[in-house]
Amino acid sequence: MPRTSRVPGFRDLSVAERRTALGAAAELDPALLAVLDPEQGMAISLADHMIENVVGVLGVPLGLATNFVVNGRQVLVPMATEEASVVAAASNSAKIARLRGGFHTSSSQPIMQTQVQIIGVADPAGGRLRLLDARDELIALANAQDPKLVELGGGAREVSVRIVESRAGRYVVLHLHVDVRDAMGANAVNTMAEAIAPRAAEIAGGRALLRILTNKADLRLSRARAVFDADALGGPAVVEDIVHAAALAEADVYRAVTHNKGIMNGISAVVLATGNDTRAVEAGGHSHAVGPGGGYTSLSRFERDADGNIVGTLELPMPVGLVGGATRTHPVAQAALAILGVRTAAELAEIIVAVGLAQNFAAVRALATEGIQRGHMSLHARNIATTVGATAEELPTLVARMIADRAVRADHAERVLAELRTTP
Ligand code: MEV
Repeated sequence: MPRTSRVPGFRDLSVAERRTALGAAAELDPALLAVLDPEQGMAISLADHMIENVVGVLGVPLGLATNFVVNGRQVLVPMATEEASVVAAASNSAKIARLRGGFHTSSSQPIMQTQVQIIGVADPAGGRLRLLDARDELIALANAQDPKLVELGGGAREVSVRIVESRAGRYVVLHLHVDVRDAMGANAVNTMAEAIAPRAAEIAGGRALLRILTNKADLRLSRARAVFDADALGGPAVVEDIVHAAALAEADVYRAVTHNKGIMNGISAVVLATGNDTRAVEAGGHSHAVGPGGGYTSLSRFERDADGNIVGTLELPMPVGLVGGATRTHPVAQAALAILGVRTAAELAEIIVAVGLAQNFAAVRALATEGIQRGHMSLHARNIATTVGATAEELPTLVARMIADRAVRADHAERVLAELRTTP
C-alpha cells in the first residue's frame, strides 16, 4: 500500500483541503472521511444508546499528526485533543525521528489479568496451593464462557495466586491471565472472573468478594524506540541539555508527573480518537511509572548513544482494542482506525506508544531549549486569527504582527486585520 505520512504544507490548507490530502495520502474513500464533519459524526440517537441520561454530544477537535514511520510503515495518526500544540509537536518529533528510520516497536502477548478476592480463608498458604493445583479446571471453566475468543486463538492461559495482607484481614487473590487477542478485554475477563469465582472460593475454602480486571495490565506491554539525530537537534550541547532534562524526571517525582503528563498528551489523544478507554490506559500507565524502588518515576528514557544522538525509549501497558465498545460503534473511531490502517490491536497499541514517545520528546526538547511558550503562542495566534475571520492569505501576516506586538488577543487581531484590509 503506497501510503505516505509526509504531507508538506498540510497545516496551511483549509479543513476541506486537508481532508482531500488525507484521502489521497492514506488512499481512503472520501465518503469514509465524511463522518469527520460534526454534523455527520455521532448521531444523538447513537449517543443515547451508549450512555445514560444523554442530553447532547461533546465535540473535540480531531487533528492529524504527520511524518510518523512505525516499523518502516508510513502512518498518519488521528489525535483527539482540546490542547493546542500537541498535534504539531508530535508531528515535529516524528519528522526528526524519520531521519534515522522512525519508530521501532514491539509488544508482549495481549494478556489481561482479572482478580478474584477470596476472604475468610483459614489457611491462605494452603488455599493458594489448592488453587494452583486446580489450574486446569479453572482455565477450562473460564474458557467455557467465551468460545468465540478461544476460536480466535485467545482465552485463559494461566492462573497465579497472591496472598495480600491488608488492615482488614488477609486475602487470597487469584489472578486469571487471559489472552484477549484484538479486544481491550475488560468484558471478556470480567465475565470469566465472575464465572470462576464460586468454584475458586470453594477450592480455597473462603468467600469470593471482588471479581474484576486489574488495570495494571503489566503483562500487556507495548514499547517504542527512536533515534533523534544530534545535528538535527542543534548539536551536542542541545543533546546534553535534553539528557539533563530527562534525568530530572527520572530522579524527581514533581518533574516525573509532568513529564509523564506530556507522554499522556499524545497517548490519550490517539486512545480517544480510536474510541478506546482513556482512563484504563492512563491508570495502567501511571502504575507502570512506579520503579523497582517503589517511587514514581518517568516512563521514558532519553540517553545519548555511542554516536552522540539521542535514543528515546518508552514502554507501558497498552490495553486497547479494535473490536467492541465505542471503537466499533463510533463512526469517527472507525474512520480513525481506517486512517491508521491497523489490522491488529498490537499494531494500534504500538503506534500509540510511538506517539507518546514523540510527544514526550517534543516537550522535553522544547523545555531544554527555547521553552514551550513561544510555540504555544504562535499556535494560539493562529487560532485567534482564524476566529476573527482572517483568510488563508491574511493569516501569516496577522500572526506575525500579533507575535511582534506581543499582543496575542482577539481585540488586537481584529484591529490589525481591519488595518491590513484597508492598507493597499
Ligand atoms: C503540557 O501539556 C505538557 C508539558 O508540561 C510536558 C512536560 O513538561 O514535559 C509541556
